[in-house]
Order: sequence, then C-alpha cells, then structure tokens
Amino acid sequence: MKNSELCFRRMTLADIRWVMKVEREVYQFPWTDKIFNDCIRVGYYCWIALQQQKIVGHAVISVTAGESHMLNLSIAREHQRKGYGRQFIEFLIDEARERNAQTMLLEVRPSNAAAISCYNSAGFNEIGCRKDYYPASEGREDALLFARHISQTADLHNS
Ligand SMILES: CC(C)(COP(=O)(O)OP(=O)(O)OC[C@H]1O[C@@H](n2cnc3c(N)ncnc32)[C@H](O)[C@@H]1OP(=O)(O)O)[C@@H](O)C(=O)NCCC(=O)NCCS
Repeated sequence: MKNSELCFRRMTLADIRWVMKVEREVYQFPWTDKIFNDCIRVGYYCWIALQQQKIVGHAVISVTAGESHMLNLSIAREHQRKGYGRQFIEFLIDEARERNAQTMLLEVRPSNAAAISCYNSAGFNEIGCRKDYYPASEGREDALLFARHISQTADLHNS
C-alpha cells in the first residue's frame, strides 16, 4: 500500500512509550524518553503520525525567529517506503509555514542514505557539514546540514 493518507496529532506524554519502541527499532543511538519529555515540556512541536489509528511514526520540530529545525523524523520499520516520510515532511513544512518560518533545517548522518534520498526528494539541499555531531560506534560521525526554503504560499515538492 502506498500513499494512503496519514492523520497527525500532537504527541502526549502517554505516547512516549510507543515512540520509544520505534526509536529503538530504527536508530543505533536512539533518543531517550527524557529527551521526548523535555521536547514536549519546552513546547517543541512533537507530532505523531497515524494510519487507521495506529502510530506509524513521530517527528519533532522547533520554530524560532523565522527558522524551523527538524529535530527528529522516524517512521516505524514495517511502515517505511510507503510514502509516509514524505507526507510527514510536507505536514511539518505546513506547520512551520503557519508559524512564519522561512526555512527548515535538519541534520542527517552521511551514512543514512535512505534519509538523504528522502530529503532530496522533498526539496531539501545540502548546505553544510557539522563536524563530529553524532555519536558513532567508533568515535563520532559528522552531520550533513540540509535546508529547504519555505515559501509563504504552499509549494508542491511532493509531485
Ligand atoms: C528516512 C525515513 C523517515 C524515510 O521515511 P519513509 O516513509 O520510508 O520514506 P518514503 O516512503 O516517504 O520515501 C520517500 C523517498 O525517499 C527515498 N527513500 C526512502 N527510503 C529509502 C531507502 N531505504 N533507500 C533509498 N531511498 C529511499 C526514495 O526516494 C523515496 O521515494 P520512492 O519511494 O518514490 O522511491 C525512514 O526511512 C526512517 O524513519 N528511517 C529511520 C529513522 C531515520 O533515519 N530518520 C531520519 C534521521 S535524519
């Protein structure tokens, strides 16, 4: 099944248990439940994506002074490659636009080919590199910095 419509709702503290299952499944270095707690507490925009009332993924963005930052985007393994990551990104871009952001930034591991391909297909461009940004099995891994301009009228990168 591809491209069925997702529903989105704000993440609550009660969701964190489920969110952590996905985190542990998809990352070698997952966020902790404390990080999600803190993100909700400080007012970051923490979202859950649902397909037929089942959680399929989660995301966190911050928006400050015209700039949004995608801090987390995760789709459960069994739901990957169904177009949900792209749908989630377009939803997050709309959210950021409503809060007057003109740009969305994100970091990604150079080794994460699936995510890089997803961000490229969603209209993000690589604009830089952050040295030793991520933990890695041996030492640290750099992050690639990606950006997408957000126009004030809805633009379509999902055709
Ligand atoms: C990255 C991620 C969010 C993508 O979500 P997804 O729902 O699987 O992606 P989509 O189905 O929307 O794919 C959109 C496009 O991304 C690219 N893509 C996605 N997964 C890919 C893969 N495994 N290999 C190559 N390209 C891939 C393709 O271009 C795809 O378009 P196509 O299916 O028409 O070819 C998902 O793989 C994920 O959650 N990964 C683990 C967590 C993670 O790494 N998050 C990003 C941290 S920066």
